[in-house]
Amino acid sequence: MVLRVENLVKEYGKDMSLTKALDNVSFSIEEGEFVSIIGASGSGKSTLLHLIGGVDSPTSGSIIVRDKNIYNLKDKELSKYRRKDVGLVYQFYNLIPILNVEENIELPVLLDKGKVDENFKKELIDILKLGEYLNYLPNQLSGGTQQRVAIARALINHPALVLADEPTGNLDSANSKEIIDLLKLLNEKYKQTVIMVTHDLDIASQAKRIITVSDGKIVSDIKKEVPLTSTNEQAVQAVITPIQQSTEIVEKVKSDTCEVNHEDSK
Ligand SMILES: Nc1ncnc2c1ncn2[C@@H]1O[C@H](COP(=O)(O)OP(=O)(O)OP(=O)(O)O)[C@@H](O)[C@H]1O
Ligand SMILES: [Mg+2]
Repeated sequence: MVLRVENLVKEYGKDMSLTKALDNVSFSIEEGEFVSIIGASGSGKSTLLHLIGGVDSPTSGSIIVRDKNIYNLKDKELSKYRRKDVGLVYQFYNLIPILNVEENIELPVLLDKGKVDENFKKELIDILKLGEYLNYLPNQLSGGTQQRVAIARALINHPALVLADEPTGNLDSANSKEIIDLLKLLNEKYKQTVIMVTHDLDIASQAKRIITVSDGKIVSDIKKEVPLTSTNEQAVQAVITPIQQSTEIVEKVKSDTCEVNHEDSK
């Protein structure tokens, strides 16, 4: 098991303005899984990812990554956890504008005073088709290419977890498909555990497991046991049914929450 989340609660504000962003969330993820987390805007997806990433602290509950309870770690160990055990991919790439592509990819290793694994770096550059851009600065690249750099940067340290928050949220459908295909490829090739937040059902359904959150709670956790390529009718139905169930859940979540103006509550 790579991750165990236990009775996680995160509250913002207090008294009248109290928001329960996460309400007693528990689940676990095995090494090498590719998991989508889906839910309406404001349901708590990013909060959950931030807590797993060690960048915020929970109101109560625990997060255990490879047997380490991360919020019991000392400050120094927690920053090391953030640098070494987590690879983050954001909607807006968050590359360092004054570093070129190669330097951006190497950054997590250099920040940790480590030595770059040149063979692995070269493999990532090949798989992510970045060879011709190594000397480019981020603002000279398309969004899709910037996101491919961000993915290389996220994987370079062989993190326990890659956490991606709406990684295709700023991309057109062709680039979105490419990014998801690459994440799936890297997940399979390196057994890299990936947790991806999205509110796009088509994107989410690319994962083998879909966790749906609503109002800070897990409302469904569906594993697809059968690969999407199967032509066997029964097998295909086994894939489609959970997706349909998920769609219904997402529609319900949307209709339940559409009257809340999230801009006001942020
Ligand atoms: N720093 C904060 N201070 C106060 N409330 C917050 C803060 N961050 C999040 N919230 C609230 O917590 C709830 C969950 O927010 P979160 O950002 O996790 O949702 P989300 O599912 O990622 O939404 P989206 O799809 O819009 O990104 C929302 O009600 C939000 O307004
Ligand atoms: Mg979010």
